[in-house]
Amino acid sequence: MDKQIKSMTLRGGKPLNGEIIIRGAKNAISKEMVASLLTSEKCVLENVARVRDIEIMKDMISEMGATVNYNPEAGVVEIDPQNIHPLSMEAVKRFSGISRIPTLTAGPMLARFGETFLPRPGGCSIGQRPIDFHIMALEKMGAVLEHIDEGLKLTCPCGLKGAKIRLDYPSVGATEQVLLAAVLAEGVTELSNAAIEPEIMDLILVLQKMGAYIMVDTDRVITIHGVKTLNGYFHVALPDRTEAASWACAAAATNGRIFVRNARQIDLVTFLNKFRQAGGEFAVKENGIEFWRSDSFKATVLETDVHPGFMTDWQQPFVIMLTQAEGMSIVHETVYEDRFGYTQALNSMGAKIQVYKECLGGKTCRFGQRNNNHSAAIMGPTPLKGATIDIPDLRAGFSYVIAAFIAEGETVLNNIDIINRGYEYFIEKLQGIGADIVSIPE
Ligand code: EPZ
Repeated sequence: MDKQIKSMTLRGGKPLNGEIIIRGAKNAISKEMVASLLTSEKCVLENVARVRDIEIMKDMISEMGATVNYNPEAGVVEIDPQNIHPLSMEAVKRFSGISRIPTLTAGPMLARFGETFLPRPGGCSIGQRPIDFHIMALEKMGAVLEHIDEGLKLTCPCGLKGAKIRLDYPSVGATEQVLLAAVLAEGVTELSNAAIEPEIMDLILVLQKMGAYIMVDTDRVITIHGVKTLNGYFHVALPDRTEAASWACAAAATNGRIFVRNARQIDLVTFLNKFRQAGGEFAVKENGIEFWRSDSFKATVLETDVHPGFMTDWQQPFVIMLTQAEGMSIVHETVYEDRFGYTQALNSMGAKIQVYKECLGGKTCRFGQRNNNHSAAIMGPTPLKGATIDIPDLRAGFSYVIAAFIAEGETVLNNIDIINRGYEYFIEKLQGIGADIVSIPE
């Protein structure tokens, strides 16, 4: 992994032009690494991006006794899970609060050992992000939970049993939790109101290759027939659609032109519709998509949602882009209750973004009667000027990078290392498309 960099100074005012290559989606690969705990056979993943979240999972799975060979340049992870064992308490403490993915090891570890510890979940601070759906589902399947200081202790002496489970909201993580727990559970599990994000479908492809029976039915119902054992797998992960959209917004926001190699239209249909509505242009080519903006760059109204809706992780780069569009845009965030905190710093750069507790746009969401600023009105176009900003989370961080390249003068971004969690080689990629990076202190 790159050396840890704390801050970076960027100079704006130049369009970003050139080619960016994207690799696999971290939000699929990390879960596919967890799937290796379901077998004692070798598992191989290709198209793995060099991001910190993958390093975290590599460390955690290694702590569990697996042999993990990770070649970041080649993008290959090989896992030999033959000798896995539950995490030690010391390791549980060390992984506490670092990532959300370790929570997903519950099902595989219970299936193999009847007992496991889960570190307290971490991840970006963009809302409360409880794990109550995960707990409800595991309890329905027969797990017994005990809260400990570092996280949770789970036991299931009689083995997990298939169950009928309904999620109050189509949570990505809870759907993955159920999939990873149900494939080796006894009997049938029916999960309704499941999430069906492309990254989940990619995980299902892996599980199917391993020998699992999983039916994805209409109306968000997933049925899993438990099997006794699963085998190893070879899989090439799907490309990162969030990274693709981030570079698309960078192209349009800076009035440049970026070809995103490996971006797939099928994963970006909803994004492309909104991008076009705002006056963004794109050309789908054989190995990727080229993005730029038309002369008529205008305000739009959008609502984030679960797939196939407009992804919440596209929201921040899109908002930066909308600061340069003509008129008043409305963005209603319906997935996380607290994902507009980053707009304050944008306003200090000259943006005109007002956040609201009300549900603006077409529909009422579950955050409507609560005290969360989850809608935003963005007035554009506004010139931006350089500032000094502390990055709060991954997607906001990348958005500030885009803002810095729109802005006049220099912007200092602190806590820049967060971006390495989800965007591989982002500094090298920026340099390759003409970005003016003034300094990167050691
Ligand atoms: C995944 O988070 C992604 N993270 C997120 O990407 C992404 O934003 C999110 O899915 C939605 O697409 C990873 O895959 C590691 P959720 P996850 O469970 O699974 C509520 C990024 O920048 N909820 O679908 O944690 C929750 O609070 C990250 O790459 C409960 O109430 O998201 C949220 O409001 C950020 N109880 C909503 O559901 C639960 O038990 C959606 O969360 C679980 C979730």
